[in-house]
Amino acid sequence: MQHLLDTTHLTDRQIQQILDDAKAFKIQRPSHLLRDKLLITLFFENSTRTRSSFEVAAKRLGAAVVHLDPSKSSTNKGETLEDTFANLCAMEPDGAIIRHSENETPQQLADMGMTSVINAGAGNYAHPTQALLDLFTMQEHFGDVKGKTIAIVGDIVSSRVASSGIRLFTRMGMNVILVAPKPFMPQSNLPQYEGLEEVLDKVDVIMSLRAQLERHASPIFDDYQEYAKHYCITKDRLQNREILILHPGPVMRNIDISDEILDDPRCKVLTQVNNGVYIRMAVLKLLLLDS
Ligand code: CP
Repeated sequence: MQHLLDTTHLTDRQIQQILDDAKAFKIQRPSHLLRDKLLITLFFENSTRTRSSFEVAAKRLGAAVVHLDPSKSSTNKGETLEDTFANLCAMEPDGAIIRHSENETPQQLADMGMTSVINAGAGNYAHPTQALLDLFTMQEHFGDVKGKTIAIVGDIVSSRVASSGIRLFTRMGMNVILVAPKPFMPQSNLPQYEGLEEVLDKVDVIMSLRAQLERHASPIFDDYQEYAKHYCITKDRLQNREILILHPGPVMRNIDISDEILDDPRCKVLTQVNNGVYIRMAVLKLLLLDS
C-alpha cells in the first residue's frame, strides 16, 4: 500500500513517471485504467480546485468517488477523526484523499494501514500534488527547470504550497528565493528579500501566494490595499520581462495579482488548474495501479 504524504517520499523515478504519465494523458486521454477502484474524499478545509480536480481525475480514469462532507458527518456528534476514517475504510475504498488543518493528520491516518492515503493539503507543511503540478507547468514552459530561479512572494510562512514547492523545486535544481514582508517570512536558509523590485531582474518565475487569513491567530495587516502596493504583480512592475506567473489559487484579485496580469499570457493560473487534473490522474495511477 503506497501513500502520497509529501513529494519527499517519492523516488526520483516515481516523480519522473508522474510527470511523463501526466504529459501522455494530456496528449491523449487514457482509457478507464481505474474502472474497478473506489476513492473517498475527506476535506476538513475548504477547497475548490484540489477536491474537484481529484474527482475529475478519478472519474476520467473510470474510478468511483464518494465524498464525505465533514460538516454533515458524525464527527459533529463527537466521533474522532480516526474512528470516522476507520469506518470509511471498513467500506473497502482503494484510497482516501484527505485535506486537514493539521500537518500530521495524513501521516497519522496512513499509519493506521487501512487504505492508501493521499494528502490533498495539510496545515502549512505539505500539498504534494500542487508542487507536482507547479513543476509540470514550469517544465511545460521551459523544458528543463534546472538552474531557473523562482521567487515565492507573499504569505510564505502560512503556506503548504510554498513548503512543498520549496522541497520539490530545490530537489529539481531550481534556485528558490523568498519575497515577503517580515511577518510572512519563514525561518529559512534560502535567499530572502523584503522588496519585490529587488528580484524582478533575477527571476524566471514568480509564484504569488495569497495572505492566508484563516491561519493567522490575529490580523497581521489592517490594510491589504497597502500590502498590495508593495507585493501585487502588476503590469507596471513586470513591464515586458518574460517572467512566468504562477498562483495556486484562490487569487485575491488586485492584491496578489492585478486583473490585467491575470489576463496576460505570462500568467499560467488556469494552465496550472488544467495541468492539475493530469498530474492527479498520474498520481492515482501510480498509487493504485503501479505500486
Ligand atoms: N490550490 C488549492 O489548493 O486550491 P483549493 O484550496 O481551492 O483546493
